[in-house]
Amino acid sequence: MGLFLKRLKAGLTIGVLTALFATPVLAREPIPQLVSRDGRHALMVDGAPFTILGAQVNNSTNYPVPLAEAWPAIHYVGANTVQVPIAWEQVEPEEGRFDFSFVDHLLQEARRNDVRLVILWFATWKNTAPKYAPAWVKLNLERFPHLIQADGTESYALSPYGQETRAADARAFAALMRHIRRIDERERTVIMVQPENEVGTYGSVRDYSPAAQAVFDGPVPSALLERVGKQPGSWSQVFGEEADEFFHAWSIAAYVNTVAEAGKREYPLPMYVNAAVPDPHERAAPTSYASGGPVWPVFDAWKAAAPSIDMLSPDIYNRDSRTYEGNLDRYARRDNALFVAETGNDVPYARYLFSTLGRGGIGWSPFGVDYTGYANYPLGAKAVTEEALTPFRDVYRLIAPWQRVWARLAFEGKVGGVSEPDDRSTQTIQMGDWTISVAYRRWQFGQPDWTWLGPLDEVPGKEIPNGGAVVAEIEPGQFIVAAQHARVEFTPREGTGRRMVVRYEEGRFDDAGNWVFERIWNGDQTDYGLNFTDRPRLLRVVTATY
Ligand code: DGJ
Repeated sequence: MGLFLKRLKAGLTIGVLTALFATPVLAREPIPQLVSRDGRHALMVDGAPFTILGAQVNNSTNYPVPLAEAWPAIHYVGANTVQVPIAWEQVEPEEGRFDFSFVDHLLQEARRNDVRLVILWFATWKNTAPKYAPAWVKLNLERFPHLIQADGTESYALSPYGQETRAADARAFAALMRHIRRIDERERTVIMVQPENEVGTYGSVRDYSPAAQAVFDGPVPSALLERVGKQPGSWSQVFGEEADEFFHAWSIAAYVNTVAEAGKREYPLPMYVNAAVPDPHERAAPTSYASGGPVWPVFDAWKAAAPSIDMLSPDIYNRDSRTYEGNLDRYARRDNALFVAETGNDVPYARYLFSTLGRGGIGWSPFGVDYTGYANYPLGAKAVTEEALTPFRDVYRLIAPWQRVWARLAFEGKVGGVSEPDDRSTQTIQMGDWTISVAYRRWQFGQPDWTWLGPLDEVPGKEIPNGGAVVAEIEPGQFIVAAQHARVEFTPREGTGRRMVVRYEEGRFDDAGNWVFERIWNGDQTDYGLNFTDRPRLLRVVTATY
């Protein structure tokens, strides 16, 4: 054998051996990814669509002792994903000295508790303020300047034009992502990251510092012009009265993009930003909310300035159904996956999981799910106890066992869902050749006007709206219904020929996503619609033409 061939053979043997030893690395799951197709979205986890049934811990639960008090609450609600803050002050207490011991602890704990993680990076902005920045940042205003307001005074917030702030934040975030890659690339416990938290500024529509003003006096960047389809010009020429807010949104988005990009260079997990949302129906003055945040009037600025941000996500603390649904409408877009990054943990919020999922949302997450004794009433519950969390446990246990099936069908555009509105009116879902009506405050038997036995009592447990339903078409003419506190009825849409429901099957999905039959519903169980209570029930509705 010639020397060349010998070398080749030796090389091949080494190659084969390397491949054998490398097997564990090769066997790792693909990196989580947010994918969009035909205006629909999926969060891919381990290579397949995944629905986040989330829980966010309280802000200061980012240390081992309080974290221990989170797990019982998380298990009780049955969340599959937990959002936990990692603070800049915590991981870089002195410039350039990093301490990731809590990150290590958190990942071990998450794996032990069998949940995925979303990491929240509290840094330059946390509810717009720099409170989670390390002291060496907070105390050095020269190097890390604050934003300047229109009257020349300093704001509490850091300036998005602080070049050193941006570089320091990006460096720290990149170090965090590098660390996560190192300890989690094989297991993929962390599935998504939120750089910063509720960015924007209260009290000043934008930054008026000399550095910011110089940019404001220049032309609008072409990426934004292209997105909004406007001719070149200054910010005032292009955006008129909205110029200040658009400029501020662009400035913050570009900053956050630098941070996210630096992190993604280390480990490209999906990244999103969360918004303190203004009124979804009326255009409010930006002085009345956190100006510059990822809110609906300035989505274009965010989309154009922050290509490394995969998704803009609302924090919804509106209890009333009109505002809640309005916010969902704002963020569920062809160019934006819907993820409710935070919502209140009080009873009225739980039902909104149904309308979030019905819009094809990739996830939803109540805030303040831990037993550390803190409660953020009036946003959420007055006390976080099992009793308070029961409505969340109830909606999660309906969806959790088949969330993978659901996520796949949502990505295919075959789902719908509604939540009980404040006025308790009946709602409808149109799907395929069927109209599916969802009514509330019904007894399981009979009709509301059947008073020949005497006046009917009110249905108990309905003081606060808590009903809802989701429907998915698993095969043409075959539907899965999951609902609670609701009466669901299927009626053929007009002009679709002769159709009927031939079977209502109760059952469940096994771990492989196959339907497992348990019984047929008939007689009283179907004569007055499909009546769902607080018991978790899945029905397969099989229809046919005749
Ligand atoms: C929204 C923020 O994003 C959270 O971190 C928290 O401060 C809540 N508001 C209020 O509890």
